[in-house]
Amino acid sequence: MNKAVPTALLQNAGVFADYQANQRQRLNASAESRAMEGGARVGVSRPHESAELHVSGSATYCDDIPELAGTLHCALGLSPVAAGRLLESDLAAVRAMPGVVRVLTAADIPGENNCGSVLHDDPILCDGEIRFLGQPVFAVIAHTREQARRAAALAKTVLKVEAAEPVLTPRQAHEKQQYVVPPMNLVRSTSGRDESGIRAAIASAPRRLTGSLDVGGQEQFYLEGQISYALPKEGGGMHVHCSTQHPSEMQFLVAHALGVRAHAVLVECRRMGGGFGGKESQSAQFACIAAIAARLLDRPVKLRLDRDDDFLITGRRHGFWYEYDVGYDDDGRILGVALQLVSHAGHSADLSAAVMTRAICHFDNAYWLPEVAMHGFCAKTNTQSNTAFRGFGGPQGAICIEYILDGIARSLGRDALAVRRANFYGVGENNVTPYRQTVSDNIIAPLVGQLVASSNYAARREEIAAFNAGSEVLKKGLALTPVKFGISFNVKHLNQAGALVHVYLDGSILVNHGGTEMGQGLNTKVAQVVAHELGVNFGRVRVSATDTSKVANTSATAASTGSDLNGKAAQDAAQKIRQRLAAHVAQQHGARIEDVRFANDQVTVAGKTLDFSAVVASAYLERVQLWSDGFYATPGLSWDAKTMTGHPFYYYAYGAAVSEVVVDTLTGEWKLLRADLLHDVGQSLNPAIDIGQIEGGFIQGMGWLTMEELVWHPKSGLLMTHAPSTYKIPTANDCPPTFNVRLFEGRNAEDSIHRSKAVGEPPLLLPFSVFFAIRDAIAAAGAPGCVPPLQAPATSEAILRAITAVQAAAH
Ligand code: MTE
Ligand code: HPA
Ligand code: MOS
Repeated sequence: MNKAVPTALLQNAGVFADYQANQRQRLNASAESRAMEGGARVGVSRPHESAELHVSGSATYCDDIPELAGTLHCALGLSPVAAGRLLESDLAAVRAMPGVVRVLTAADIPGENNCGSVLHDDPILCDGEIRFLGQPVFAVIAHTREQARRAAALAKTVLKVEAAEPVLTPRQAHEKQQYVVPPMNLVRSTSGRDESGIRAAIASAPRRLTGSLDVGGQEQFYLEGQISYALPKEGGGMHVHCSTQHPSEMQFLVAHALGVRAHAVLVECRRMGGGFGGKESQSAQFACIAAIAARLLDRPVKLRLDRDDDFLITGRRHGFWYEYDVGYDDDGRILGVALQLVSHAGHSADLSAAVMTRAICHFDNAYWLPEVAMHGFCAKTNTQSNTAFRGFGGPQGAICIEYILDGIARSLGRDALAVRRANFYGVGENNVTPYRQTVSDNIIAPLVGQLVASSNYAARREEIAAFNAGSEVLKKGLALTPVKFGISFNVKHLNQAGALVHVYLDGSILVNHGGTEMGQGLNTKVAQVVAHELGVNFGRVRVSATDTSKVANTSATAASTGSDLNGKAAQDAAQKIRQRLAAHVAQQHGARIEDVRFANDQVTVAGKTLDFSAVVASAYLERVQLWSDGFYATPGLSWDAKTMTGHPFYYYAYGAAVSEVVVDTLTGEWKLLRADLLHDVGQSLNPAIDIGQIEGGFIQGMGWLTMEELVWHPKSGLLMTHAPSTYKIPTANDCPPTFNVRLFEGRNAEDSIHRSKAVGEPPLLLPFSVFFAIRDAIAAAGAPGCVPPLQAPATSEAILRAITAVQAAAH
């Protein structure tokens, strides 16, 4: 059925494919020549391993798995209030609804009522204390999904609650000192000052900037919503198909909820229709509920959330609020910063501590800060529990210093690029981060230099000034922002991975690794690595579903480390097999192992060329093990969470972007006219996939900073923007007409997989340039030297507010 997918269709499969066509051809040409040299299979642009399945509709997502006879469906009854206590509720009316088989509450959970990933503070079903509006209180199991949903909808009327006053904003929570984890502090002075010394230095600096910034949260909006399908197995076993970035954690949490050992639970995920961090921890609640229902009823149970329920139940990117006090000199160089960061954590800890840690470790972005005191607070509110989202706090940390630098430049009347450059990390000096890691792979200056030239920044700056001088209503803006993003989990033990490689007798290869595929192309890259190592064609290698019974104790596919970790683990496994095959043919042909070559589906030894499959078959007859495990642990990492110092990142990924916008100062509408991105992926494993990640990350980050707005009802705490009707994400139509996306030529200074660099999250910071281009256009509507108080997201309303402010100040 999918044999005849035309190439044109494949090329248009990606949302942004139109913009990629030319670029890809160019990249293919250079990568192809690199690939020729050793018959290499890495470094080549090739389509996503499931591209044909995606575009023909035959890729299997959880809901596409054929249902077993007797499958039941689950829907959740949600709390109608944001805070208070659950009273004795009569669920008889729910039980009496058509098709209902059973209604479960917290009391029915065989094991622990918790699905919290780090702290045990996340009830699976409400335990009496109501934490937010939308919290699952009971689960309805019915014959059909519609029946379950209709019965669950009765929650609004049947639940008896004693409502309390909710805490709905981080400001309220901070006033009450109500946090999900203890505050975090990072104080660093290069001149031996303590915090009060740092504050005194800021106060006595030649110039000073104080202010605050609000940055909103963001919904992951994965196209495939949260889903789990649990199948009870013999002897207390449970098999859960789950759309998750973290199968091992799902396994452990399901085991705890069922009160069984981990070995009784198997969690499987072939692919997700997007995760973006939203399925790192928060797939657990649904995996647990489906598994509990399946156990109690001894029937297969599927729980697939409706989009509105997904919005109401799960958390998203943390919104942040910052208060800064900065001292700087006449060149715009920052001398000292005191910063308070308050994140909107929601009702439980989830991953908020790690997100705040990453925010604090990314406040520096590309800039050297001699004196800094940062204090991070994870505010506990009566809302959904916020969680991982692409960048994981990194974007929230870095946007703040960019806001500060932009403000400094405006106060000085200098181009913001000059001020940014004046603050860049140095090479060999001024290169230690606030958390004491030395930036030893700094390429920010050459990268930015290249982009300044290729984007024609200086000339366009002048053109825009001329345009604005002659345009009353429409104002243009331009901005260049850099990115430095630390790669590794900021929890050391998570930086490990395993893989299994099987070579079958016909010479075909099956790979299994601990990572999960969410559209980012991880399986494609891992298959390329294995094909490269064994010198075979990509087509010989197949990657199977992630499965906790194959590779144990895996980390989430997160922190952009998927291909770094699993690529290395798979390479390790493939190398072991190649070594055994080489030893086998060397012995057979009286040659040295080092002289055996694997390339182009062939093995050459002692002047002879053998078919790879023939070598495999003959090795089997000699009882050579044709499968292997592989393992990898990132070297050199350390972290002291108490002092917030160490070497948390293996390396940094860099990038920069220039964006140009036009703003209608009467309506607040705006348009991105052109974007030029230059991003560092080291030596790319697959340029086409990397460019797709960069484009996708850019547009997604632009959505966060400009159009995606979350609104909770100020009294009830209802998330009012709980569907695409009220929550607007960018589409292909929001791509700029001129979108130049290039990979920076280079290789990773560290020994990463084929010297590539992680690409999943760092590009999400590139659209800072869009936000600051908008701020630049707004500034053109005010008096020279004005500093527009633009908040994120820069919706048309926010833009109009900032325009009104700068115009009022000008009069
Ligand atoms: N790309 C697609 N298409 N879908 C996704 O869900 N998630 C992002 C990024 N790119 C995501 C994506 C996030 S949050 C991360 S951490 C990385 O992919 C994870 O995959 P990797 O480590 O293999 O890059
Ligand atoms: N990224 C994503 N998930 C994580 C991290 C991180 O840095 N640390 C712990 N979990
Ligand atoms: Mo990505 S936020 O680390 O899943």
